[in-house]
Amino acid sequence: MDKILQKSFDINQIRNDFPILSKSVNNKPLIYFDNAATTQKPKHVIDAVSRFYESENSNVHRGVHDLSQKATAIFEESREKIRAFLNAKESSEIIYVRGTTEAINLVARSYGGQFLNEGDEIILSAMEHHSNIVPWQQIAEEKRLILRIIPINDEGELLLDEFEKLISIRTKLISIVHVSNSLGTVNPVKHIIDKAHECEIPVLIDGAQSTPHMAVDVQALDCDFYTVSGHKLFGPTGIGILYGKKQLLEKMPPYQGGGDMIRSVTFEKTTYNVLPNKFEAGTPNIAGVVGLGAAIDYINSIGLNLITEYEQDLFKYASEVLGNLEGLKIIGKAANKTAVISFLCGDIHPHDIGTILDHDGIAIRAGHHCTQPLMQRLGLTATARISLAFYNTKNEIDSFAETIPKLFKIFS
Ligand code: ALA
Repeated sequence: MDKILQKSFDINQIRNDFPILSKSVNNKPLIYFDNAATTQKPKHVIDAVSRFYESENSNVHRGVHDLSQKATAIFEESREKIRAFLNAKESSEIIYVRGTTEAINLVARSYGGQFLNEGDEIILSAMEHHSNIVPWQQIAEEKRLILRIIPINDEGELLLDEFEKLISIRTKLISIVHVSNSLGTVNPVKHIIDKAHECEIPVLIDGAQSTPHMAVDVQALDCDFYTVSGHKLFGPTGIGILYGKKQLLEKMPPYQGGGDMIRSVTFEKTTYNVLPNKFEAGTPNIAGVVGLGAAIDYINSIGLNLITEYEQDLFKYASEVLGNLEGLKIIGKAANKTAVISFLCGDIHPHDIGTILDHDGIAIRAGHHCTQPLMQRLGLTATARISLAFYNTKNEIDSFAETIPKLFKIFS
């Protein structure tokens, strides 16, 4: 893989690295503010994926031939890059999955299926997205488990006193989002993990929205499971990571059966492979893995600390600008927030806001953001949402701000 080297945070160079950012939409320069839905891809990632298909494509872990060995080497190198990125202890704790959704389904099915029993309780929070609700509901229905929900205040922060009251001897698992995709709240996950571990309760942290914006150290957090979404981390779609502590993953049964997850198969009995292969049945998304490895190289070439610093400044600026726009109401005012600003403009429907902004080349998301229970808690059906990445600029925020008075005029 080509080495990339960037010397400092140069926003113009960074923007040039992302071909799509120079596109026009509706004859206006694209302003891409839908990064919580998916991020754009740097040329480095696009090139790595095409190079793989052009000159390295082969299946992994199966062939003695040269191409297969090369593909396997790249595939496993990426696993090591992801291990280092999350500071996991061992690369065997890094399981390739389709994304955060599959990672949570894997834990719900495998851990939940094996270790949870009737009457056991799982704690979630009121700000989870559907991926961290529905898999637990499904296993709860099947095994007669009970879901307990940490409430939030009107600012969009978890009520930690209420969380502690929910913990009991029946609590067998906690699954919490690190950064809310709808509100941008950064949850105090270390505190939650420490409290849970006092009672020996394992904790899954949904990192779909955190890893693009901040350094995550799974050993320092001491979380039991952590999930990553590759396409939100500037990598391809259809690839993600489940991190799990080795001693837990080793006890868990396979999630799916098929090739690569077996050690030996007869019609009488199948024995399973070791970690991580035990959880990786079938031909994986090899090109996706290659792309995710390249995305991590790219992030490292800039430095996650510089990315976080730039983004925090941008986010502060965006919060001030939006906060001062007449008629615009920010939804979610947690003290600790990142990257995401949900808002309403009077009684203009968020879909209409999204459509009008699109005429100006500005891509935002409007809707319930796959968090319908959170919307119900807030007494809303939908919000408009901008979500930032490190290639966005203050000029783009200013252009966004200029369209808001126009919007009110159209709907007045
Ligand atoms: N969960 C993604 C979002 O927030 C799809 O838009």
